[in-house]
Amino acid sequence: MILLAVFMIAVAGVDIVMPLMTRYAVDTFIVPKNADGLGLFAIIYLSITLFQAVNVAIFILFAGKVETGVSYGIRKAGFSKLQELSFSYYDHASVGWLMTRITSDTTKLSEIIAWGLVDLVWGGSLMIGIATVMFIMHWKLTLLVLSVVPLLFWVSKKFQVLILSSYREVRKTNSKITASFNEGIMGAVTTKTLVRETDYLREFTHLTDKMYSSSFRAAVQSALYMPLVQIASVMGAGLAIWFGGSGVIAGDISYGMLVMFLSYATFFFQPVQEMARVFAELQNAQAAAERITSLIETDPEIRDHENTIQLIPSSLRGDIRFDNVGFEYKQGQKILNNFNLDVEAGSSIALVGETGGGKTSIISLVCRFYEPTSGKISIDGQDYTLYPLQWLQSHLGVVLQTPHLFSGTIMENIRYGKLTATDEEVIRAATQVQADAFISQLADGYSTIVTEGGTNLSTGQKQLISLARAIIADPAILIMDEATSSVDTETERLIQHAIDKLVKGRTSFIIAHRLSTIRNANRILVIEKGNITEDGNHDELITLKGRYFQLYTNQFQEEKTKEILK
Ligand SMILES: Nc1ncnc2c1ncn2[C@@H]1O[C@H](COP(=O)(O)OP(=O)(O)O)[C@@H](O)[C@H]1O
Ligand SMILES: [Mg+2]
Repeated sequence: MILLAVFMIAVAGVDIVMPLMTRYAVDTFIVPKNADGLGLFAIIYLSITLFQAVNVAIFILFAGKVETGVSYGIRKAGFSKLQELSFSYYDHASVGWLMTRITSDTTKLSEIIAWGLVDLVWGGSLMIGIATVMFIMHWKLTLLVLSVVPLLFWVSKKFQVLILSSYREVRKTNSKITASFNEGIMGAVTTKTLVRETDYLREFTHLTDKMYSSSFRAAVQSALYMPLVQIASVMGAGLAIWFGGSGVIAGDISYGMLVMFLSYATFFFQPVQEMARVFAELQNAQAAAERITSLIETDPEIRDHENTIQLIPSSLRGDIRFDNVGFEYKQGQKILNNFNLDVEAGSSIALVGETGGGKTSIISLVCRFYEPTSGKISIDGQDYTLYPLQWLQSHLGVVLQTPHLFSGTIMENIRYGKLTATDEEVIRAATQVQADAFISQLADGYSTIVTEGGTNLSTGQKQLISLARAIIADPAILIMDEATSSVDTETERLIQHAIDKLVKGRTSFIIAHRLSTIRNANRILVIEKGNITEDGNHDELITLKGRYFQLYTNQFQEEKTKEILK
């Protein structure tokens, strides 16, 4: 940026020298009709022109470098921050908002930093330089020519404010349109099933109409402003001709001086509009910069503490203990209150209960996606916030109800669980969870490309793949949140065996809607309104004839009825 500024001053310097050259040529060669020394003059003139050409090439190169560099830096910082931020951040930041920060705000900021610097340094030094030279040459004439400047600045400032506020509205509408597109694309299927197309189209048309009218207003304002600047600069030149001309006639100003003043007068006003625009845009860019820094400077809520233990254990056993844990997503909305639970390493825990009871919240705490708001969770006897986050989470295998697959092949997606896994290991894991059956039936088998978000696979198939991805990592703690909810009963029964084998020897938490799948768990916890209301194995809870008994017999009956009706 410093180099860029230096070159811009050089460019302005040459711009100031050129009219001086013209003056010399007029007074030495043209008026006296004299050709002595014209050759040398031509050579000097050509060299200056070449020097300027080099300057221009270099400043464009540097400005481009600054622009690309700034946006590269911001995007990199923004993306790595997005990787680092905790779940809670994504609870309230919308995807559209984040995308705009990383895309258009970044573009705007890097543009203004690079090209704004160019315009300000060039314009500033040009105006100061020209004014100085003119004053030295003829201060009275200079005062006349520059008398229009205050007026011009005032008009420019007024117009830029108007134009900017119109553009701000354009941009606001534009981000609403983007959000609308986003919703339209993501929710296309739902829109169709709800037959909402016409309503959406009407809302969208309203937005684009607004966009049209505010863009048009901005265009009209720009159209009015440009000629005003031109008039001012012509007025300056006019004053120079008027008074300078009479000076030439009276004999106290040379022809060359008049020509020089004329070009200075027109030249002087060029940067005014550029600079007025830059000043106005800077205000805008400040807002963009504040939004970007607010993202980049957000501290992830969950991260390693200063007192993180230095001596990391070589392995994790999997004892988990909740001590009077309280938890809330939003202040004042208690999800868990004085929650206590002691899980022995290697045991399998099933969580059942109504939707909204807090099952997912409990396992999110175990995964340290969120941390308790009061009380503490210990793993292997140590407060788990003292472990390095990455180390802790690398010992967890998590399969969620809505699995996310990355774009790439099925093979790669499973291998994400353990990057060093061989093809055979991947296939073995897939076979274990009954995914091999459908994968080998696909035309490309394991090389089938998963499209963005995995739209070319059914939810059940994605669940099987992410199950394979979790088990290939051989985690100490396995967590499954309705991980097989979209798998058909038959396949689920087949995987059941694999899951039973899988949970052996490792601490596991299983949330399953179909209760038949958790029958073999060591402990079944009934979770109601954030509390454990029943705790025991299947047989114990059945004998208890409580809530679990009720849930189980209901489902059992339903399934039996279905089977009979088949
Ligand atoms: N990210 C979140 N932000 C705010 N509230 C949440 C969030 N996730 C869940 N909740 C609330 O926490 C409660 C428990 O939800 P959850 O743990 O998902 O229950 P379950 O898994 O048993 O259906 C619900 O009242 C739900 O509205
Ligand atoms: Mg849940």
